[in-house]
Amino acid sequence: MLPALGDRRRSHQSSTAQDSTASATVGGRENDPRSYFACAVTRDGGVVEIRAVRPDDTGRLCEHFCSLSPTSAYFRFFSPKRRVSERELASLTDIDFVRKVTLVATVCSTGAERIVGLAQYVVDDNCRQRAQLACSVVDAYQGRGLGTLLMGHLLGIARARGVVEFVADVLSDNHTMLGLLTKSGLATHRSTQARVVHVTFSDAEADRFLTAA
Ligand SMILES: CC(C)(COP(=O)(O)OP(=O)(O)OC[C@H]1O[C@@H](n2cnc3c(N)ncnc32)[C@H](O)[C@@H]1OP(=O)(O)O)[C@@H](O)C(=O)NCCC(=O)NCCS
Repeated sequence: MLPALGDRRRSHQSSTAQDSTASATVGGRENDPRSYFACAVTRDGGVVEIRAVRPDDTGRLCEHFCSLSPTSAYFRFFSPKRRVSERELASLTDIDFVRKVTLVATVCSTGAERIVGLAQYVVDDNCRQRAQLACSVVDAYQGRGLGTLLMGHLLGIARARGVVEFVADVLSDNHTMLGLLTKSGLATHRSTQARVVHVTFSDAEADRFLTAA
């Protein structure tokens, strides 16, 4: 299990291209997800920054969703849609970091920062200890451990803020996301309705995820 955020700031897990899992060094102001950042190494040795989303990320987020393959976009939005509306972009960037927290994974190529992964939780209006999770990784970066890393960082923040139960709605043919949750030991409570698998897991079950971050 990861230590609390304040301790994580000083921690540095070893990170080599040979590691079987991706790894990260965490920084930012203690207990303030608004300034969260981590330098991470994916399983194949690529370097990414994992940081809190910013209001000026709108264009980069738009590009992120546009660059998802039709299948990935379908799995993320439950429809073939490729473009996100202004309102949806605002819901990702204009956030309070209390009820909603969004992390992005970025890389720099030819001097421009690109969002290659995103993970968000939204706290349930009726239960402050429960949150809905969603994530996406652009196709070229999938299978490198980035989804696992992003979710681990997000769950670390959630835990520090008292969120102890998580839900994720996943299409039943989204074997990658279901595999990710299963491999992490999280897919404990499942119910399927109209091809959507409703996965619920608790903080204790998230421990195996957190060790990957
Ligand atoms: C789901 C998603 C975020 C995973 O991101 P990722 O960076 O590829 O995930 P990881 O590399 O960390 O892989 C996690 C695990 O998923 C599982 N997995 C990957 N591909 C799989 C497949 N085809 N079948 C079953 N399990 C699979 C594996 O257990 C894998 O771990 P391993 O490679 O160590 O065996 C990414 O595929 C994605 O963005 N998909 C489109 C959008 C989406 O489905 N979002 C989720 C709905 S909210």
